[in-house]
Amino acid sequence: MDRPHRGTICCIDARVIEQQAWPGNQFILRLHAPDCARTATPGTFVHVRCNPDIPMRRPLSIMRVSASEGWIEVLYKVLGSGLAALSRVEPGDLVNLLGPIGRGFRPDPARPQAVLIGGGVGIPPLVFLAGTLAPKPAAVAFLGSESPFPFAQETAQLPLPGIPAAASACMPQLEKMGIASRLASNAGLPGCYSGYVSDLARAWLQSCSDAERAVMTIYACGPTPMLRAVQQLAASFSLPTQLCMEEFMACAVGGCAGCVVPVMIEGKRQMKRVCVDGPVFDGAALYPSL
Ligand SMILES: Cc1cc2nc3c(=O)[nH]c(=O)nc-3n(C[C@H](O)[C@H](O)[C@H](O)COP(=O)(O)OP(=O)(O)OC[C@H]3O[C@@H](n4cnc5c(N)ncnc54)[C@H](O)[C@@H]3O)c2cc1C
Ligand code: FES
Repeated sequence: MDRPHRGTICCIDARVIEQQAWPGNQFILRLHAPDCARTATPGTFVHVRCNPDIPMRRPLSIMRVSASEGWIEVLYKVLGSGLAALSRVEPGDLVNLLGPIGRGFRPDPARPQAVLIGGGVGIPPLVFLAGTLAPKPAAVAFLGSESPFPFAQETAQLPLPGIPAAASACMPQLEKMGIASRLASNAGLPGCYSGYVSDLARAWLQSCSDAERAVMTIYACGPTPMLRAVQQLAASFSLPTQLCMEEFMACAVGGCAGCVVPVMIEGKRQMKRVCVDGPVFDGAALYPSL
């Protein structure tokens, strides 16, 4: 039996290094977790005990790591009691976590041009992926959010053809890596394309040649409707996708089958656990009818 996680998931009390609050009830938490920082890959996540009195852990994607300094960073948006409790931890506190968990993105060397599409709290694993593509990135990024973005957006300097002029803002951290990015929102955020992030990506893809598209792979993470829209977009251009899912989870280590999704493998429908078989899946296998 294939047990890729045997012996690789740590369970530790990670010390809080820093917690930053951003508008829209969003937080960036940096934790001292050297083993996790060393073995995490983009798309993997940690399962966090938010408070000793709240038994259910919450899964959070790893956004950035420093293996040399021994920390990991997560970005989260508070929806309910668990992450509300996590938002109250302070530097020096201990947070128990399991991780890194899951099979992350697997870049295809035959299709090195990466198109990153992230929605809301699906942005973190793409920031991690972007960091691993640098310093010679062949990547562009499209990010969507209905809450204010949890970073200080700036006017984009790197050109991206086909993009409406109103979409003038970028994520500065990606620009510094040489990755052109643009932002989308339906909430009227300044500098953003007014609409869905998949439509913003479509505008750019339409301006690319067949030869340029022949070496592209789309990597996406976000809510299910966004992932479906991205898969539809990719299918219309015959592009492969790797989609990172954010399903409901209980154990997150493969034991409860609480997170299974149907996936089409070699013409057969199989049930796969998002936590350990994913969270990243081939989009065509996940949504074969799109
Ligand atoms: C692999 C993975 C990675 C994730 N990465 C991130 C991340 O990086 N940042 C982030 O903010 N969130 C992420 N999520 C989602 C996050 O785990 C949930 O939003 C979180 O559990 C909410 O916790 P809470 O205590 O704020 O709210 P809860 O009290 O748990 O729930 C509040 C409301 O949200 C709903 N809800 C809970 N979980 C989900 C879910 N997974 N999908 C849809 N609705 C849900 C509940 O039904 C309820 O209505 C990820 C989920 C998975 C599975
Ligand atoms: S959450 Fe238990 S098997 Fe995935």
